[in-house]
Amino acid sequence: MSRKFFVGGNWKMNGDKKSLGDLIQTMNGGKVDPNVEVVCGAPSIYLDFVRSKLDAKFGVAAQNCYKVPKGAFTGEISPAMIKDCGVNWVILGHSERRHVFGESDELIGQKTAHALENGLGVIACIGEKLDEREAGITEKVVYAQTKFIADNVKDWSKVVLAYEPVWAIGTGKTASPQQVNIKTEGVAEGSVTGGTCKELGSQKDVDGFLVGGASLKPEFIDIINAKQ
Ligand code: G3P
Repeated sequence: MSRKFFVGGNWKMNGDKKSLGDLIQTMNGGKVDPNVEVVCGAPSIYLDFVRSKLDAKFGVAAQNCYKVPKGAFTGEISPAMIKDCGVNWVILGHSERRHVFGESDELIGQKTAHALENGLGVIACIGEKLDEREAGITEKVVYAQTKFIADNVKDWSKVVLAYEPVWAIGTGKTASPQQVNIKTEGVAEGSVTGGTCKELGSQKDVDGFLVGGASLKPEFIDIINAKQ
């Protein structure tokens, strides 16, 4: 069964009830391609709020979760808590979790296993940093990241692999279609905008996007409709 084109929004640590409420109103009122699966990654504190206001045709994701069901892990959230908010997805291994908060490939693999075991869909992020690309070790880095994820996946129908060239994130630079054409199917991310989405979306191995900054703007509707 072929999957729908996937467009994820990663709102990161942005927004408040007013601004997210306005964005949700724009999304709920927008005309979106029914052949696209849309999932919005909201800050944990707003998961309940977003799920309760966003039209059910859109999915909601947490931006992280821990690797065990419960316990003395101050500040962490569990897959069970995420599902308790009516949310069925989680973003794991985002480059900011890796390079700002020091999450290892192994920890991301363990989180992936736990999230899948508890019925969440996983948007699993991989991608190299600029120095790794310049050192010519992109494939080595991305292979290792992907292996720790893949070794914990039994059912790929619940996983979206998001390739994010870290050097393109938040920079306004977008990886060229050739750079994005990675050997495994996956979604592209890294400054996807209303202006770049159509060309990127037409690439053979690109099955969707994981969008940061532009997902907080009305142009997110254009990105969702990139295949039209
Ligand atoms: O998770 C996707 C995000 O890191 C991409 O950010 O702002 O470059 O679209 P942005």
